[in-house]
Amino acid sequence: AITATAPIGPPHPRHLLTSTSKMRPPIIPTALKALVRDVSPSLAQCNLTFLRREPIDIGLARLQHSGYKQVLRELGVGLIELPNAEDFPDGVFVEDAAVIVDEAAVITRPGAENRRGETKGLEKVLAPHRPVHRMKAPGTLDGGDALRVEKTIFVGRTRRTNGAGIAQLKAFLSPYGYRVAAVEVAGCLHLKSACTYLGGGTLLVNGSWIDPAPFRSLKLLKVDPAEPFAANALQVAGRLLFPSCFPMTRDKIAKGGFQVLEVDNSELMKAESALTCMSVIFSQLRPAGLDAP
Ligand code: GLY
Repeated sequence: AITATAPIGPPHPRHLLTSTSKMRPPIIPTALKALVRDVSPSLAQCNLTFLRREPIDIGLARLQHSGYKQVLRELGVGLIELPNAEDFPDGVFVEDAAVIVDEAAVITRPGAENRRGETKGLEKVLAPHRPVHRMKAPGTLDGGDALRVEKTIFVGRTRRTNGAGIAQLKAFLSPYGYRVAAVEVAGCLHLKSACTYLGGGTLLVNGSWIDPAPFRSLKLLKVDPAEPFAANALQVAGRLLFPSCFPMTRDKIAKGGFQVLEVDNSELMKAESALTCMSVIFSQLRPAGLDAP
């Protein structure tokens, strides 16, 4: 069970906040929602780019995925379960299919051709929640490459995300006051394999896969050198979900004053994934001045 949450970290750096108050009426985030999709029976045939293939125990992967969903539920997140996609081994990694901010949702064009079908039907799912934009060829972008820090979206330039994809994301989101900044990534699949935002102006980072220069205004917390895959933490409702297999980095994060909640995703990680990959979390919104439903 999960106990009461507490606020984490100091306020966000001011220059990363861009006011949209002149452009849009204020909107109030209420409950959290998350897109999720169950593990495909074909997960073992997943795409692998930097990892060697290892046998995957589907039963164990499913169990871990259920545990992940349960943690989200216990943190008050309402799950939106996408239809099973048996033909898509990587379909459980829904993060790559959409980038969602308070003002809009962008359906991506995933960089791996065999994953593009995962975005089918997403308009219908997202339209009740946000205005929806859809990326077009030749742009490609995986949601795992888009890291939001307040009103700045850092986007990894990777084998999955190209310049046209970054330009489209910028065109879709800059009208809402977002700044989009490209980050060069080398040696890992996604930007969020190399860094994630912990809140309070702190970035968890493996500096050997990215040039941290674009993040100079943030405080960098480096993963333990023995745990290169530990830079992926998921912020949910004042907690940080963090893989239980990286205890040394976990200790560093906890010492920084963050409330860490450990989750075992070790079997799913064999499919070159991380905790953020398995959901797209967004706030349910209502216009300011209206009573909550
Ligand atoms: N196996 C995760 C991906 O390649 O997208």
